[in-house]
Amino acid sequence: MAYKRTEISERDIQRQLDICKRIKERNDGLYSSPLAMVDTYGCQQNEADSEKIRGYLREMGYSFTQNEEEADVIVINTCAVREHAEMRILGNVGALNHTKKKNPNQIIALCGCMVQQEHMAEKIKRSFRLVDLVFGTHELWRFPELLEQVMSDRKKRVFAIRDMEGVIAEGLPHARDSGIKAWLSVMYGCNNFCTYCVVPYVRGRERSRLPEDILAEAKALVEGGCKDITLLGQNVNSYGRDLGMGMDFADLLRQINDIPGEFLIRFMTSHPKDATEKLFRTMAECEKCARHIHLPVQSGSAGILKAMNRVYTPEQYMALVDLARELMPDLVITTDIIVGFPGETQEDFEDTLRLVERVRFDAAFTFIYSKRSGTPAAKMPDPVTREEKQERFDRLLALQNAISGEKHAAYVGKVMKVLVDDVSEDERCDFRGRTNGGRLVHIKGEDAALGEFADVKITGSSTWALFGELV
Ligand code: 5AD
Ligand code: SF4
Repeated sequence: MAYKRTEISERDIQRQLDICKRIKERNDGLYSSPLAMVDTYGCQQNEADSEKIRGYLREMGYSFTQNEEEADVIVINTCAVREHAEMRILGNVGALNHTKKKNPNQIIALCGCMVQQEHMAEKIKRSFRLVDLVFGTHELWRFPELLEQVMSDRKKRVFAIRDMEGVIAEGLPHARDSGIKAWLSVMYGCNNFCTYCVVPYVRGRERSRLPEDILAEAKALVEGGCKDITLLGQNVNSYGRDLGMGMDFADLLRQINDIPGEFLIRFMTSHPKDATEKLFRTMAECEKCARHIHLPVQSGSAGILKAMNRVYTPEQYMALVDLARELMPDLVITTDIIVGFPGETQEDFEDTLRLVERVRFDAAFTFIYSKRSGTPAAKMPDPVTREEKQERFDRLLALQNAISGEKHAAYVGKVMKVLVDDVSEDERCDFRGRTNGGRLVHIKGEDAALGEFADVKITGSSTWALFGELV
């Protein structure tokens, strides 16, 4: 192993759980019903981390609220991928000044990727005095201990941020949002150092959880009625490489597929450089593996991909998509695209449009490049104006929306198996769910049951969703 893997012992986690009990006893004397709010920004990894924070808070006896005025503890789990998110987070933290004035006992904590950056931690120390606790991405497992430090001396502010290569902590309590769908982290960190991206700096090196821990968690989820498990990692395709057990992500998929029960396995995110024929064949052979892959392309220009350090060419990417579709004709492919990377010319951008037209993604998450300090791209000359970047972004979005709309329209008339996972927010419909390929469906039919697979006849579509009736 090239990096330092720090495994947190069972004893250390037990100590955190003992602290939870202490906090609960202390709260019992102070409140009739203590309330906490956990606010999450960013990706699914952060959602999964927030479930662990909620798990600890639940052990401390907290119930949850979405109202910052009544919360005794507020935890904001932050994202650093784009500047826009950071600005929004800081704005929202600043706005808590008035709730804290009304309730000076309120504890405000910040954690996650944004605060893991040194300049941000400094900024919060200096300019956001209302924040009592800041903990980095490697300290989540000891949140109870840090919270207790704040509680024991309300004049003290606690900052716990260490630059570490990789912490693995098993056995944390987990308060999941839904019993039907679950996030399951299989690995943490990233080694790819795409030149625009801050993630490798704030999340540390790639480290895989042991297969037996993952399988035990997946089995417990399925036995508890979970029907849809999404395996998470910044780059799941490099799963296992650091373990030296001769096991890769495709092997892991097969083992999870062997767990008895009716459920779906999804995963994200996949780096194209590590997506192999073996992975696609395994997906095709495993009946529980959803026919969906999120395969971020980022750009359709060979030069830009090189400058991004993505280590594949547009041709290689397209060949990969062709291979995947050959093995799974009904595969849904989604992607991420960055517009306006430093030095992107009009010609580079046209290459991206051409790739999008050629691949015809089912959906794409599109972003305007955001400069992240400390990354190599931040030092690259970037002469293109904001207006031009916005224009390119709008053109790309219009193209992709048209494609997404056409792809969705092609489902109309078909009967699809849908996992019903929530009530619909669309007035005309009763429930909502996801197809095997992950497409959102609003369903008419009062007899549908939450957490069950249902046959739905697709009767309409939009850019973002399908509409259908229970068969
Ligand atoms: N600017 C814009 N988009 C970014 N992403 C990552 N870093 C940046 C950045 N600096 C996008 C990538 C990635 C997705 C999660 O966020 O497309 O796949
Ligand atoms: Fe960032 Fe690239 Fe790692 Fe994804 S693979 S987290 S874009 S460095």
